[in-house]
Amino acid sequence: MNIALFGPPGAGKGTQAKELSKHYNIPHISTGDILRANVRDGTELGLKAKQYMDKGELVPDEVLIGLIRNRLTEPDCEAGYLLDGYPRTIPQADALKDILSEISKPLDSVINIEVSDEELVKRLSGRRSCTCGESYHVMFNPPEKEGVCNACGAELYQRDDDEEEVIRQRLAVYNDKTKPLIDYYDNAGLLVNVNGAGAVDAVFADVCKIMDQYK
Ligand code: AP5
Ligand code: MG
Ligand code: ZN
Repeated sequence: MNIALFGPPGAGKGTQAKELSKHYNIPHISTGDILRANVRDGTELGLKAKQYMDKGELVPDEVLIGLIRNRLTEPDCEAGYLLDGYPRTIPQADALKDILSEISKPLDSVINIEVSDEELVKRLSGRRSCTCGESYHVMFNPPEKEGVCNACGAELYQRDDDEEEVIRQRLAVYNDKTKPLIDYYDNAGLLVNVNGAGAVDAVFADVCKIMDQYK
């Protein structure tokens, strides 16, 4: 199954994708996680991306398009893929269409997780992240042991871009550059909306109802 999870910052894309990837046994491809790993490792890509990420801006399209092309042509995508955080602009979506047609793996569905702005700010400001890709929330989704990842035991951290001012900027960038993709994918007949306001398990069940159609 070939799926893109779509939605504003903090909608729960990463939280859901982690579980969905295990449930359906397809790779979770988060461009945010790939970029953060590069920042941590101090790669050339990471150094370039960090300047944009810290300000809540999008990393330039050409960088992301190259990155996603490399990732989607890896062998683990044979059985399908679960995109998280890509595409985020119309040029990225156009490039994706070309890449997917080259590898004969067109999207089955774009699942749009809908959450109000007020709730997004609450979710992002209380988020705690792990380098393994898990994310928690101090109130809504706390780890078993405070400050420690359930999955890998590492110490949790707060993302640099989860600071109130940068959160506002990320939401503004989403509205300006990314939200137009809702119409883009609706017109392509691929968009399905999911209410993301419920509990993590409830949202998971709703997303599974959609993904089960493509098993
Ligand atoms: P990225 O890492 O993709 O960040 P984002 O889109 O801002 O999304 P988030 O990861 O913040 O939110 P999420 O939807 O994954 O929410 P989560 O599950 O963690 O991108 C970061 C940066 O990288 C960008 O700003 C940009 O600079 C760059 N970048 C990445 N991709 C790019 C691209 N394609 N083009 C250009 N630049 C790119 O959940 C959030 C919180 O809510 C957590 O605390 C969680 O525990 C909690 N939560 C989740 N679900 C629920 C629920 N149902 N109820 C209550 N709480 C919940
Ligand atoms: Mg995420
Ligand atoms: Zn972890």
